[in-house]
Amino acid sequence: MKALAPLALSTSIKGLTTIFNTPKMFIGANVFPEGPVVGPSTMDTLANRCAKKRAFIVTDEFGNKFAAKAARFLQSGGFTVEIWPRCLPEAPMEVVAECAKAMKAYEPDLIMAVGGGSVMDSAKAAWVLYERPDIIDLGMISPLDKLNLRQKAILVAVPTTAGTGSECTGVSVIHDNAASRKIPITHDELFPDFAILDPQFTISMPPKLTAGTGLDVLAHAMDSVTTPAANEITEPLALKAIEMVFQWLPRAYQNGQDKEARHRMLIAASIAGMAFGNNGGAHLTHSFGHSLGAVFNLHHGMCVGFFLPQTLQFCSPVTDKHLLICRTLGIEAKDAKKGLVKLVARVRSFLTELGVPLTLKELGISRADFNAHFDKLVKFAFEDVDCYLSPRPITAAQCAQVFRYAYDGRDIDF
Ligand SMILES: [Fe+2]
Repeated sequence: MKALAPLALSTSIKGLTTIFNTPKMFIGANVFPEGPVVGPSTMDTLANRCAKKRAFIVTDEFGNKFAAKAARFLQSGGFTVEIWPRCLPEAPMEVVAECAKAMKAYEPDLIMAVGGGSVMDSAKAAWVLYERPDIIDLGMISPLDKLNLRQKAILVAVPTTAGTGSECTGVSVIHDNAASRKIPITHDELFPDFAILDPQFTISMPPKLTAGTGLDVLAHAMDSVTTPAANEITEPLALKAIEMVFQWLPRAYQNGQDKEARHRMLIAASIAGMAFGNNGGAHLTHSFGHSLGAVFNLHHGMCVGFFLPQTLQFCSPVTDKHLLICRTLGIEAKDAKKGLVKLVARVRSFLTELGVPLTLKELGISRADFNAHFDKLVKFAFEDVDCYLSPRPITAAQCAQVFRYAYDGRDIDF
């Protein structure tokens, strides 16, 4: 089955019908204008879609101050606004259900998610429950179902980090903590109607979070290039995102107040979201990263970024698409093998520049801890849904070997 999954996604089969989704996007420092605007504004578009003008803002304690700005903007356009600031990291199922309950009581026709990945994912899932109270188990939603969303409300995503790209994907990942179960929901109808990118909303991210979220962008984009599901639309988007991350992330990391770097990284995150959101592109960086993050409670973006070298190396026997990344980054390579060596060296020096260690040992994981959790690490990675999307099918024994090598930073040679 694992070997068939990437084939089923490949352009030769999937290409019989290629669907490309993207929200309408508003980008820049004046997307939430507080004074007069020249030309069409964000409000002109939103107000047209919402007859009742009842807005429900989903956020968390960090996004609350930005939600207040978004609320002022909506009120200026005649909306009645309720802010629901109780989202939690990892989007726990019970919090999503609570959010949906508040939506049902308020009956909005506009739902706005203001926050990072877990806020946007929580809002998407709660929106499904609000629109479809007959759905009991979100985990049972198939991408082939017809959900008929948007009968009650439209969805607007306003990211406050530049990483997840959830504002431009039809993906929502929530967690059923009671059953220790991750519930990934992927559906065409989950693409937000609008994405509003205000670089001011990302400016207060501390350097470590800036690096972590930025590396998430890079992992989405690099996996989107090497996946067999890449197509003529997603590939150039992913390559552009890679170019932008290398250009702008170090600046945003070194100086959080650098408005241009923040602005470009926010766009890069959305572009990478469009690429992987339309080709199911994230693969091994995410299966290994998810596992490492879950077992040692580490940041998602940092973990997926950490596994970029191993992913490129493991996939290289079945693809030479990393040469496209080399070309994008101006890396000259005579053949696929030499290109891989240079690209991995470039990625490693980039990780170092961003303060990310190159080995699990340097990450502070003791040998005893590593050994104690080894089986769990391998199991989580191997069973992760993204593992099925690897261009090169991977066995549990190979997963184990990748972790062993990652502990000391050895090059993958199998
Ligand atoms: Fe990610």
